[in-house]
Amino acid sequence: MLDKTTFEKLIKDLVKTKIKAINWTGGGEPTQNPFLGEAIKFINENSKIEMGMFTNGSLLERFNLFEVIVKSLKWIRISIDAGKADTYDNLRKTNKNNNFDQVMKNINKLIEYKKNFKSDLIIGVGFVVTKENYKEIKKFSEIFKNIDVDYCQFKPEIIQIERHNYKNESTNNNKMQISSDFWLHKVIDLLDEAKEILNSKFECNSYKLDDLIVDVKNYGRNYKECIGSQFQPCIGADGHVYVCTNHRGHKKYSYGNIYESNFSEIWNNLEKRREIMNNINKKEKFCNCTQLCKPHESNKILWSIKTNMKDKNYINNLKDKTKKLSKTLKHINFI
Ligand SMILES: C[S@@+](CC[C@H](N)C(=O)[O-])C[C@H]1O[C@@H](n2cnc3c(N)ncnc32)[C@H](O)[C@@H]1O
Repeated sequence: MLDKTTFEKLIKDLVKTKIKAINWTGGGEPTQNPFLGEAIKFINENSKIEMGMFTNGSLLERFNLFEVIVKSLKWIRISIDAGKADTYDNLRKTNKNNNFDQVMKNINKLIEYKKNFKSDLIIGVGFVVTKENYKEIKKFSEIFKNIDVDYCQFKPEIIQIERHNYKNESTNNNKMQISSDFWLHKVIDLLDEAKEILNSKFECNSYKLDDLIVDVKNYGRNYKECIGSQFQPCIGADGHVYVCTNHRGHKKYSYGNIYESNFSEIWNNLEKRREIMNNINKKEKFCNCTQLCKPHESNKILWSIKTNMKDKNYINNLKDKTKKLSKTLKHINFI
């Protein structure tokens, strides 16, 4: 994890930039870093940067993060991925603190803090649907129907090829996603039942399901450049500034390291960024990229904008849509 000195240097640098939002997340768990609470507080007090967090929720008690979270974050989503304690404890093996009862206790305590501090924090819980846990979709929904979270989000498991070595670049044996049959015949009906149980709390990444079901060749990747990554880089726990969260851990996709330089210098080195993006877009043509990766949805719209820049009707239409959407969308700075 980032050491305190480097983390401090990073946040002092970030608050001077025009960054709109930070999403605290991890290939691991963001709340493991004992300095996180102080960092969030500092950013909140010294900038207009908005913050949100993905977490397993197990360590909120250990570092007493409840107050700083309800006072400083716009949203938090706690990954659960199960409907029963024993499934949870088997599926999300981390350490003994990460058990279902502890996480449920922490969620309830966070809700209490939110009420006591009259906070606007949006609290969500997440369920990544896999072959191992799909039968618990209903059970999970029944639990959270009666708990005061704002939403319950379901999304399909994405097989992440970046987790494997890039030995088979040309064949990409690891690239197979779960078949569309599974989503169509095993999952969709259960999601409909979850919707009935949860009503307005139900949320589903249906665009991911669409891509998994309808276009099993490209999974919706009809763009030729990863432009979305240029709006949402990832600072890894190892200090590297990666192209995206999916490529974290692979130095080939790092623009530089904050142990050697600072974030602003690294981000402003356009030549280095162009070199790496050229490799991804033109040479590799995404062969090392996960389908339905983090920048995927942004890429679809940004590619469409790039290729229609000269079409006045398209652009006017887009401006109209933007006006309408900005009235209804929450947390626009995170998109
Ligand atoms: C990688 S986790 C890291 C943060 C934290 N440790 C947690 O458990 O949420 C960040 C987000 O990615 C999601 N995620 C992880 N693996 C995934 C996969 N294979 N497919 C889809 N989403 C995944 C998680 O559910 C979570 O919303």
